[in-house]
This record gives sequence, C-alpha cells and structure tokens, in this order.
Amino acid sequence: MSTIRPEQPAHDAFLDTVLRPVAWDEYIGQGRIKQNLRILLSAARERGQPPEHILFYGPPGLGKTTLAHLVAHELGASVKATSGPAIEKTGDLASLLTNLSPGDVLFIDEIHRLPKAVEEVLYPAMESGTLDIILGKGPSARIIQLDLPPFTLVAATTRIALLSAPLRSRFSGGTFRLSFYSLDETKEILLRSARILKTELDAEACHEIARRSRLTPRTANYLLKRCRDFAQVHKQPLSANVARDALALLEIDERGLGVLDRALLETIIVKFGGGPVGLGTIAAALSEEHATIEEVNEPYLMQIGFLERTPRGRVATEAAYRHLNAKLPASAQEKLL
Ligand SMILES: Nc1ncnc2c1ncn2[C@@H]1O[C@H](COP(=O)(O)OP(=O)(O)O)[C@@H](O)[C@H]1O
Ligand SMILES: [Mg+2]
Repeated sequence: MSTIRPEQPAHDAFLDTVLRPVAWDEYIGQGRIKQNLRILLSAARERGQPPEHILFYGPPGLGKTTLAHLVAHELGASVKATSGPAIEKTGDLASLLTNLSPGDVLFIDEIHRLPKAVEEVLYPAMESGTLDIILGKGPSARIIQLDLPPFTLVAATTRIALLSAPLRSRFSGGTFRLSFYSLDETKEILLRSARILKTELDAEACHEIARRSRLTPRTANYLLKRCRDFAQVHKQPLSANVARDALALLEIDERGLGVLDRALLETIIVKFGGGPVGLGTIAAALSEEHATIEEVNEPYLMQIGFLERTPRGRVATEAAYRHLNAKLPASAQEKLL
C-alpha cells in the first residue's frame, strides 16, 4: 500500500461519509480558514445575498470537500456538486447553471481540470451572474445574455498552479489554502472517528496511528479503519501494539511513508545522487503517474523536510538520507550546505 488512492471499496467510501463533519465544531483545525469563512458567510447572510465565490486548495484528504459542504450547510443552501472532468462541454455547464435555484452552492471539485472553453463560460457567470449564449457562427453570430439565479461557486483543487489567472481572480470571496494538521489535531480527528465507529482507541494507539497519518485526516481515518479490522480479526483490543502490527503490514513506516514515498526518495538518492532531478525523470524511473507524485507524495515529503523543490529539480534532504539509513555522499553534503 503505497499511496491512498481515491478509489476505495464501496463500504469504505460509505464510512468516509459517516466520518465527515457536518457542523463547524466537528471540523477540527484550519482555524484561520474557519474564522474567515464565518465572517464572509455571516456578512452575506445579513445582507441577504449569497456570498462571493470561494476557492479551496491543498493536497488531497485535508478537508476541502468537507468545507464546501459546511459552507452550504451554514447558509442553509443546497449543494449541486460536480467536478472539472465531468463538465466536458459548454452546454453541460450552461445546463448546470440554469438549473440552479437562487442561493444554491455550486461545488466544482478538481476545477483545474475544467476544459478551457467551459472556463470561459464560467467567467461572466461568476462575475455578473450572466450566461452568454452564442447563436450562429462567423460574422452573423449573436450573443444573448441570460440572467442566472444568484449563486455561490465553491471550488476545490489540488493543483492551484494549473488554474489560469483570470479564473483565480474571480474567486472574490477568497482563496484558502488548507495546511497539514498538527499531530494533536490529527489525534483529535482520530478520537472523534473512533467514537463514531464505536471503536475503543487508547491514547497510545491513537498516537501510533496519528504519527503515521501524514497529518492528513483522510489517511488518519483510513489507517484507523485498517487497524480496527486487524484488531477485530485477531480478536484483540486496538492497543498500540496491534496498531503497530497492522500498520507494519500495510508497509507504512514510522513517519507515515508508504512504499511509493520511500521508492521516490531512494530513486533520487541512489539513481540520481540525491538530485536535483526533474519530476519527469523520477516518474519515468518509478513508472508512476506524474500527477500522483506531485499531488499525493511530494507535498507531505516537503512538509516533513525530506524533499525540496528547486528550479533545477527535486533534491533529497539530509533528513531523508537519515530516515532511509543512506550514506550521504560527499557531493551531496556540499550541495546541502
Ligand atoms: N478538519 C477536519 N476535521 C475532521 N475530519 C476531517 C477534517 N477534514 C477532513 N476530515 C475527514 O477526512 C475525510 C476527507 O476529507 P475531504 O473533505 O474529502 O478532503 P479533500 O476534499 O480535501 O480531499 C472526510 O471524510 C472527513 O471525515
Ligand atoms: Mg475532495
């Protein structure tokens, strides 16, 4: 088990929904974002208008989708949820927009994957609440403008850099970057999930899971469920020892690195002398998707200081060498100084 893939068995996906916070005080951490959102939302409510458009970005599993639903919940609005790749044609977006009711929240996940032509239809919709429909072709083409019901677009992306400047600038309600959670926040999330799953989780076991959770709620919940399965099958309570055994079986090490994370660092260290080496070269060496490495593996490795992105490529840090018990070559020592 190297990375946590989005495709999960149906039952796990169901548990994900069960574990999803439905009220603000259940949403742990990200304090600054919550404060800003509350002001934005109460001000809009007092004025009797839908709030301006909001963008959330950050690595997978940090709580973007959950926040989008909390925003709608706070507004008492209903959510129409879709995603960038699901909107293929401008007509798809037009029909989504014209079917909104006043005050609805339109949630577009993975908005960086919206086709360019669709994006252009979105601009006037976001800015002036209108839909431009082009009739005919060439010199005789005409534009008719349709007024849309007032709505709030809430969008999420793992790849903010891929968003065009015009699109980014239209999130006038705010652009919020979700950060990794602290160890204590991760523990709090685990304890809440254990309560919902009716699983006994003592402090030590909670600590063992939390430190391997990549400071990411989705991963924390995933590991908790796997440990709970392991304990159940072995007819034992979920103690720290049971957690350690279960996580070792999943090949997750003490810093939460999986097989692919370690292979990634090893490739840089062994094959490329510690770097700098380009992402494309690493992906090819690992036969892995570019996007997986960039979106899933790298953010956490950078967060814990195992990897650096430089203009010339990726570099493994001294901490990565130490973690993998690799000998630091003289040249790498110089590079790191
Ligand atoms: N701040 C949080 N507090 C508690 N649980 C959270 C929090 N953020 C995320 N989760 C949990 O993690 C899971 C993944 O969150 P999600 O919003 O789907 O992440 P993203 O959309 O960023 O990939 C959710 O099912 C939820 O149970
Ligand atoms: Mg999501």
